[in-house]
Amino acid sequence: MEKILVLDFGGQYNQLIARRVRENRVYSEVRPYTTTLEEIRSAGYKGIILTGGPKSVYGENAVRYEKALFELGIPVLGICYGAQLMAYTLGGTVEAGANEYGGVSLSLDTGSLLFRGIPAKTQCWMSHTDYISQIPIGFKISAKTESCPVAAMENDVRKLYAVQFHPEVMHTPQGMQMLHNFLFEICGCAGEWTMSSFTRRTVAQLKEKIGNRKVLCALSGGVDSSVAALLLHKAVGDNLTCIFVDHGLLRKDEASDVESLFRGQYDMNLIAVDAASQFLEKLAGVGDPEQKRKIIGEEFIRVFEAEAKKIGKVDFLVQGTIYPDVIESGAGDAALIKSHHNVGGLPEHVDFEEIIEPLRDLFKDEVRQVGLELGMPEEMVYRQPFPGPGLGVRVIGEITAEKLEILKEADAIFREEVAAAGLDREIGQYFAVLTDMRSVGVMGDARTYDYTIALRAVQTSDFMTADWAKLPYDLLERVSNRIVNGVRGVNRVVYDITSKPPATIEWE
Ligand code: XMP
Repeated sequence: MEKILVLDFGGQYNQLIARRVRENRVYSEVRPYTTTLEEIRSAGYKGIILTGGPKSVYGENAVRYEKALFELGIPVLGICYGAQLMAYTLGGTVEAGANEYGGVSLSLDTGSLLFRGIPAKTQCWMSHTDYISQIPIGFKISAKTESCPVAAMENDVRKLYAVQFHPEVMHTPQGMQMLHNFLFEICGCAGEWTMSSFTRRTVAQLKEKIGNRKVLCALSGGVDSSVAALLLHKAVGDNLTCIFVDHGLLRKDEASDVESLFRGQYDMNLIAVDAASQFLEKLAGVGDPEQKRKIIGEEFIRVFEAEAKKIGKVDFLVQGTIYPDVIESGAGDAALIKSHHNVGGLPEHVDFEEIIEPLRDLFKDEVRQVGLELGMPEEMVYRQPFPGPGLGVRVIGEITAEKLEILKEADAIFREEVAAAGLDREIGQYFAVLTDMRSVGVMGDARTYDYTIALRAVQTSDFMTADWAKLPYDLLERVSNRIVNGVRGVNRVVYDITSKPPATIEWE
């Protein structure tokens, strides 16, 4: 299979570059700059993209790569830091002093293959302080901006290209065309990476690998585990058993929806465990969020383990790991969030031979495409993320059956109204929170002393930063009216208007 290497020097857009390549139907892999030349050579890449990075290429602790990378005969595109690295390594000069940040106008050489089909004047997104002041011998300048003399350079004979700006971000309107040119005109890719071919290939491979052996999957109802389970089911049918633990902290109707879809519609071997009262008992009197997370995680493993024991030894355990988990497993904020939030440690408690991770090469949007390929309903495929501990971290403080019931009803109303307004796909995440606060109100002639529901809705592309969503007032008004009139125990609704940072998306 043709593939592109995204060689990671620690910039912020590395995954985005890899995704943009895949949007062109070319498979891409992100690998660290520590990947050896031999590994790169033997992997048979059609092209290499050098990413941005946080340092100065001439500095003491700069991360660099040996010159031989540019002598493999594989086309290379250097982006931002990657461009400076190419210039520096091949004998050019990089200096400090060209502060450019944001959208700037770009003049380019329309004769360059990289810029084929692009007008001579366009916009690009810059984010740099260092710049290439002198290009290496054999190169020519192919684009400039007002303050950047080498916005792009190339040696077309050696197929080495470099751009100081970021073609992968939306603010470079012709950036997608430039990447397309690199992949198809320069690297000679054919564009064979599609989710239908992935699905077909993966199902065939799984069938071959598993044969008549037994597979176990923990189904949460989230997109990743659902798509993984469906792929496996397509490959091995009844040899797959899914265990779905209902911890009672799911949204309204969620458990029954999961059951009716997987058992009803797909006719899967599904073991659904109603463990709601068991979880509530363990959580009684606990108000600390981290403590609640810990209890929920541990209890989940205990329930799963008990069910798995009844089945006995299985050959394979399925995990819904996806590509960002793989890339991020080293370090970084996102990795921390994952390990912190997710129910880890399941494999240690199940008797199995081997782990299968059918989605470990896919980005989230690709996982969704596979879901659609497999006929999964759209509302399931485009589901917003839902934390593992579920409503456990959305009932602030101690969790009781009564509080859970209030939250489920209020949250269902909010979700229903957002969907009715046609905004459900536009907003990254939206939900209700039951604050631990009660306040005074009036209902008819009587005074009330009831809970406050907070509504949270955010726009985000990566969940690391988020803006509060500017929901229309009439929508907020409808939601508020329906909640205070329809949900007993609530007399006040507030809307959270803080962004992340400094606030987080969840309240606990
Ligand atoms: P925060 O609240 O940290 O949330 O801004 C970022 C994303 O992570 C989700 N989240 C969790 N996911 N277990 C999870 O599986 C958790 O304990 C957890 N806490 C937050 C949150 O919903 C958002 O998508």
